[in-house]
Amino acid sequence: MAPRIPRLLAAAAATGLVLTGTSACSSGSSDASSTASEKGKITWLSSPLGPAGTDARRALVAAFEKAHPGISVKLVNSPTSTDTTRSTLTTQISGGASTPDVYNGDVVWPAQFGKAGLALPLTGRLPAGFWNRFTPGLTKSMTYQGKVMAAPFFTDQAFLYYRKDLLAKAHLPVPTTWEQVQKTAAKLQAKHLVKYGYVGQGASYEGLTCDWTELMTDAGGRALDASQKHAAIDSPQSLRALTYLRGLITSGVAPKAMTSFQEPQAEQLFTGGQAAFMRNWAYAYADANSKDSQVSDKVGVTTLPAFADRPGSGRSTIGGWNLYINPHSQHVGADLTFIKWMTDTQAQRILATKAGMLPTNAKVLKDQGVQSANPVLSVAARNKLAARPSGVPNYPQVSQAIYANINAALAGSASPKAALKTAASQINGALSQGGGL
Ligand code: GLC
Repeated sequence: MAPRIPRLLAAAAATGLVLTGTSACSSGSSDASSTASEKGKITWLSSPLGPAGTDARRALVAAFEKAHPGISVKLVNSPTSTDTTRSTLTTQISGGASTPDVYNGDVVWPAQFGKAGLALPLTGRLPAGFWNRFTPGLTKSMTYQGKVMAAPFFTDQAFLYYRKDLLAKAHLPVPTTWEQVQKTAAKLQAKHLVKYGYVGQGASYEGLTCDWTELMTDAGGRALDASQKHAAIDSPQSLRALTYLRGLITSGVAPKAMTSFQEPQAEQLFTGGQAAFMRNWAYAYADANSKDSQVSDKVGVTTLPAFADRPGSGRSTIGGWNLYINPHSQHVGADLTFIKWMTDTQAQRILATKAGMLPTNAKVLKDQGVQSANPVLSVAARNKLAARPSGVPNYPQVSQAIYANINAALAGSASPKAALKTAASQINGALSQGGGL
């Protein structure tokens, strides 16, 4: 497994991310903050981490409080939808709320949250060398106008999950192309082995931008041109990707209801034994093999497929969650201590082994014990990544222009051609109104 890790690091670097190293640090303020940090009561906003019965948040909080007896952590539940969490936090923090002190926030938020003052810049507040613990490139993507806005908590990459038992029964190989996914799925359905062939995320929300980004990139398309100032989504490549995705629904391989699926609904169908293939993030492996799953031990995981005539495609969108500090928090010292601990080896090991997450701490990622406990890590090392254009002005509006129109095409309320045209014009509108970040 050892040679795979540099490839994972290389893949992160290939997304254009570079390690910020010590540029983000100043030891003076960190000393002050760590002295002040040893007492306090802080609130941490997080959605559940890991399979229902073994939510790793509690283990993390318990281990943190043991290591820092002067600080207690109140856990506040957040919804699993990134959009809902973003709008709730935006309203709360811009209204001056001092809680949550620390919140889990999406990797696509730093520019927006930095611009709107919704997160406390961490640059200069953590000890020199702190940023070196992360896999190369991660902190760069969290930087807004030269300041690191958050600390990387876990990475998300997407995979193709498949039912090993069904493929074996039908004597079919694991598909490596999107065309094979569709054909294999249809064969399994025709043999009445499973109700649906494929499930992914088709609802009108950020997750569809993720599914779309990988499929469009597989077809050779892109959302924006190289200058990032104009839409490039209205292209023959995108049309191919969208026609394929819509075809999964019209052919009955994917359920019609997929147009309202976020990650949990796709997982529900898959772990309930009703779908042969699923696109989902790293944590879905632990969920599929948990005691609540009806397909425990029957699930395989591999990289997402390529289009048959484009070998070397087969991308995963890069996702993940960071730890941000509320700029109105009254307990910044304790917040920083919490962030340091949550990104250190003990917490990152818990995340990777109990919650099935991809750790951001480079030492933990390389740890052989962690790798054997979480088989998704070795598949992740083979992933080729695709980034969403989250650093552009008005990314939320750009993303909305993507997911709302792709969703309309999937639902059949717009033709793929018309949907891409509208998406392009809405993206251009958002980019021209965005101003500089
Ligand atoms: C996952 C990813 C996140 C993405 C979201 C979309 O939570 O980590 O980056 O925006 O899915 O649903």
